[in-house]
Amino acid sequence: MKNFDSVNSMKDKQGNEESPSSSLISHPSSLNNSSQPLLTIAIAKGRMQTDALALLARAGVRASDEMIKSRRLAIEDESGKYRFVFVKPADVPVYVEHGIADCGIVGRDVLMETGADLLQPLDLGIARCRISLAARTGRNLKSNLGAMRVATKYPRIAASHFGARGIPVEIIQLSGSVELAPVLGLSDCILDLVETGRTLVENGLEEVEVIAESTGRLVVNRASYQLRAEAIAKLLESLGRIVNEGEEA
Ligand code: PRP
Repeated sequence: MKNFDSVNSMKDKQGNEESPSSSLISHPSSLNNSSQPLLTIAIAKGRMQTDALALLARAGVRASDEMIKSRRLAIEDESGKYRFVFVKPADVPVYVEHGIADCGIVGRDVLMETGADLLQPLDLGIARCRISLAARTGRNLKSNLGAMRVATKYPRIAASHFGARGIPVEIIQLSGSVELAPVLGLSDCILDLVETGRTLVENGLEEVEVIAESTGRLVVNRASYQLRAEAIAKLLESLGRIVNEGEEA
């Protein structure tokens, strides 16, 4: 995270205050027609992306279908006020914390794992899932002798969960297809995301304990929140309205 004072003192060539995102992106399209820097939103690729784009579109921030279908990783919305950048979920907090993106849309699971220093003003209620402990169906984890082996993409959450309970574990970090680990004998259990539960069932596993619920969150860079206050407040207001409408429906 940048020192706020140093960020705050950044000026563009005309001597105007400049946000971290605009100063760090030299691409000419980083300024729109009114010379306002685009508000950059980092969006987690994968399970979050479609729901995030749909929510943004309902809030009046939409990119053309052609842009969305393209393989471009940074696109502008139709108003020319916003830029979307599509990155791996774990990279969303990195881009936002460094001020390359002013805002991000990412799951709570990722935020818990990375522990990034970001503002989290809005639960978007999308991509609802849970972080759970699971094991082979019928397997009694309490009968485990010695440290339990836990395979996971979330080593920090696992360490915190078992550490808080004083349960000794060996954490085996994987990048994906975590459900295979207990099936093939690499681990006794897994700590992973469960959405429909289908991957667990189809691999002979069952949920043992729900550790946390996760939904997509809007996150904001701390300096951007001050420097782009008006633009961010507008986005928050529009998204908040849509989220509330969804909850009331
Ligand atoms: C996630 C998660 C589970 C699966 C759960 O994996 O890690 O494997 O989705 O979804 P379900 O409960 O609806 O079956 P992802 O698709 O992100 O791929 P990965 O295994 O490569 O991480």
